[in-house]
Amino acid sequence: ATVTKDFNITWAYGNPDGAFNRSVIGINNQWPIPKIEVNKGDRVVINVFNGLGNVSTALHFHGIFLRGQTEMDGAAGVTQCSIPPGSSFTYNFTVDQPGTYWYHSHVKAQYPEGLRGPFIVHDPDMPFKDQYDEEIVLPLSDWYHQMVSTTLMSRFISFANPTGAEPVPDAALMNDTQNLQIHVQPGKTYMFRIINMAAFAAQYFWIEGHTMRVVEVDGVYTEPAEASMLYLTAAQRYSVLVTAKNETGANFAIQGSMDQDLFDAVPDGLNPNVTGWLVYDGAKELPKAQPLDAFEPFDDFGLVPQDGEKLLDKADYTVTLDLKMDNLGDGANYAFFNDITYVVPKVPTIYTALTTGDLATNPAVYGVNTNAFILKKDDIVDIVVNNNDPGKHPFHLHGHNFQVVSRSADEAGPFVANASIEAAFPSVPMRRDTILVRPNGNFVLRFRADNPGIWLFHCHIEWHTASGLIATMIESPLELQSSLTIPEDHYAACRAAKQPFKGN
Ligand code: C2O
Repeated sequence: ATVTKDFNITWAYGNPDGAFNRSVIGINNQWPIPKIEVNKGDRVVINVFNGLGNVSTALHFHGIFLRGQTEMDGAAGVTQCSIPPGSSFTYNFTVDQPGTYWYHSHVKAQYPEGLRGPFIVHDPDMPFKDQYDEEIVLPLSDWYHQMVSTTLMSRFISFANPTGAEPVPDAALMNDTQNLQIHVQPGKTYMFRIINMAAFAAQYFWIEGHTMRVVEVDGVYTEPAEASMLYLTAAQRYSVLVTAKNETGANFAIQGSMDQDLFDAVPDGLNPNVTGWLVYDGAKELPKAQPLDAFEPFDDFGLVPQDGEKLLDKADYTVTLDLKMDNLGDGANYAFFNDITYVVPKVPTIYTALTTGDLATNPAVYGVNTNAFILKKDDIVDIVVNNNDPGKHPFHLHGHNFQVVSRSADEAGPFVANASIEAAFPSVPMRRDTILVRPNGNFVLRFRADNPGIWLFHCHIEWHTASGLIATMIESPLELQSSLTIPEDHYAACRAAKQPFKGN
């Protein structure tokens, strides 16, 4: 089937924590923005009009592979020019993967203004469909009272912030509110699709008195695994099955709690928690949530994909990225991969790949500030991130998911390949599309370059994306030259934006 949406992206108002009414970016004058729900195999057509008046925008579909459709990835300056105010642009792609995803603006600091929502792909062949009665989409988020793309971002990037301290969110949200109540029937089983749409804060998540059975991680079905508490970095998702009690006189807290280790300084009066309620009919009592340390967070590294996909063969090509946060001596904060801070190129990378002939396999044509790596068709690729920073960073790769073949503890230093480490790689590794690197630790991700396209790899903390913690995977550029046709409205957006798009 074809699912068509007409999205006029507009300013709206929102006050999700009841503390501060602010301008937000909505769709069709409403906020929160709509959930997108489709079935596996559907074609999705989203007609976007940028009705913001003052800023450009674009929509990215987080975790959707867009096989053969990289030009629909919505990464502004990478796979398209951003859509200027008053212009239209159509996203048109097919979705062949089931699971829990989300969509968001990929223009600097715009999704924390509210332009982010769930993107659910239903699956008639869902392997656990007989094990639950109902589905509940449960987005988590952090929330800022001040404008992120203007006020907070200029403060963050400025000389007045030489330590690079990231603004701390004012609140945590659950389903874009702090008053969520979910009514449940005794004995029924619910599948919660939990999505962390945060700009910055990871959240711990648990439901009082109920265990969760994890069955999906970032669009990958897993062998069921019991969890009493989850940890979701920005951009991660889990689906869990939760069975309601047969008999109870009480309601139970659904608890989210921002990971305060991420914050350089915790402001006085910050409430890192958000509480929703699992409401049983007839129950009166609303018990308080237990303190956070009552549980052990679930370790995602041990998850096993249900399809049993084995560890891919040894990599043909390794991309090693040394992460550093620093300033260039001028006091303003930057983020680096291999001493390069990413700068959005003037010509979107995709057009450079399409117009430079054989040179498209030379990373230099993309400009040094894009951190470009050329991936050959069907090569097995390792991405190694060495975190030379005491902070945690959630990394996301567009266009793929990846096997997590190794992830160190805190303070392990850079990854050093050796026979015993390689022998310890799991035989059926967990796959997902967003993964945390621990403070001063490392990880190794592995995937097959079977999806020609231009795919970003970046830290999903919006502050760090904005300060340049991005690399560009240029996958099979010569194949793109012969296979891609770019719709005319993409070039029209570049012309309207007065942005070059022809390459060179
Ligand atoms: Cu959620 Cu680059 O994206």
